[in-house]
Parts: sequence; structure tokens; C-alpha cells
Amino acid sequence: LEDDQGFFRKYYSYYLSGASYTIFLAFIGVFFGTLVGGLLAWMKLGSSKLIRLFATIYIEYIRGTPLLVQIFIVYFGTGILGLDISRLAAGCIALSLNSGAYVAEIIRAGINGVNRGQLEAARSLGMNQVQAMRHIILPQAVKNILPALGNEFVTVIKESSVVSIIGVSELIFQAGNVQGASFKPFLPYLVVSFIYFALTFTLSRVLGVAERRMNAHD
Ligand code: ARG
Repeated sequence: LEDDQGFFRKYYSYYLSGASYTIFLAFIGVFFGTLVGGLLAWMKLGSSKLIRLFATIYIEYIRGTPLLVQIFIVYFGTGILGLDISRLAAGCIALSLNSGAYVAEIIRAGINGVNRGQLEAARSLGMNQVQAMRHIILPQAVKNILPALGNEFVTVIKESSVVSIIGVSELIFQAGNVQGASFKPFLPYLVVSFIYFALTFTLSRVLGVAERRMNAHD
């Protein structure tokens, strides 16, 4: 145990730095993922068949391939194109593009989850499609979408671990550094699992409280 206390004193700064990268990656991933997802959902709701097809292909392709390979494609693909972007930027872009496909489905499900009668009622009151969407459907859909976006944040905190493969110094990468510095194979990863858990558990609890408050208004 004494030895382990020395371990934390020695290596906590690795974990602190790794955790800030992990939180940053997740935040950027969900933020831009929401923008990408909103755009894709909008494309899928539109009247152009070609645009709908493009959005569908994007969503299916992203969801049907591993995040790991998407990270490699962004990182080495931009290299081939002569775009010299940092590992961190490549990681952020890959996470955002990936999350966007999942968020698109979250938004679509949120909109579909609003009772169809709401649209018909709005239309019968003389609203056009866009007005009905904006004033009646979307405000209700947001109540379905926000909690699911919270869960997406939890997911991306965990998924961001995969960008360690291109050398972004988030939690997993730092656990590797600690492993190398301490010659301990197991403890560094056990510690990192507790940090992930502290992050996701805290966030889920906060989201649960926020969701209950939101629903209390109904
Ligand atoms: N781990 C899976 C993969 O590598 C799922 C990624 C989930 N991503 C998300 N943004 N919800 O493909």
C-alpha cells in the first residue's frame, strides 16, 4: 500500500493531463457531432431524394465501420492529401464525424417519437410544414433528444479512448506512459478504469437529475 501511495504521488499528473484530453475530446466530439448530426437529420427529412440518399449512405457507412478505422482514415487520409493536421485535430475530426452519424439517428428518433397527431393538429390550425416543425414538433422532440445526447456524451468519453492509437495523449495513452515509467503492468490501467468510471458515473447522475427536472415541468 505504501508503494501504491507513492505511485499516485508520482504519476497523478499523467492522469490529470490524460483526463483533460479525454474530456476535451468528448466535448468537441459531441459538440461538432451534434452539428453534423443535425445537418444529417435535416438532410434526411428533406424532399430531395439525392440528398436523403447521401445522408443515409453516410450514416450507414459510419455506423457500419469501426471507429478505429475511421480514425486511421482521417489521420492518414489527411496526410496523403498533404494536409498536415495534428494528431489531436485528427482525433477530434474522427470523433465528430463518427458521433454525427449516431446523433443523426438520435434526432430522427426524437422527431419520430412525437405523436403524429401533433403534426396533423398543427396543420389543421393552418400552419405550414415548416411552422409546424418549428413551433410544435421540435420543442417536443427536444425532450426526447436532450437525454439521448447526454448518453452520447457518456459514450464518446469512453470511445475517445480509441484515439490513443494515433498518439493523442488522453487517458489510455497516459496509462501506457505510466506503465512504461513504473514498470507496473496492471495498476496503471486499473487506475484509468476508475477515472473513466468517475467521469461517466458522475455525468450520468447529473444527466438523470437534469432529465427529472425537465420532465417535472410537464
Ligand atoms: N465502438 C463502436 C465502434 O467502434 C461504436 C462507436 C459508437 N460511437 C458513438 N458516437 N456513439 O464503431
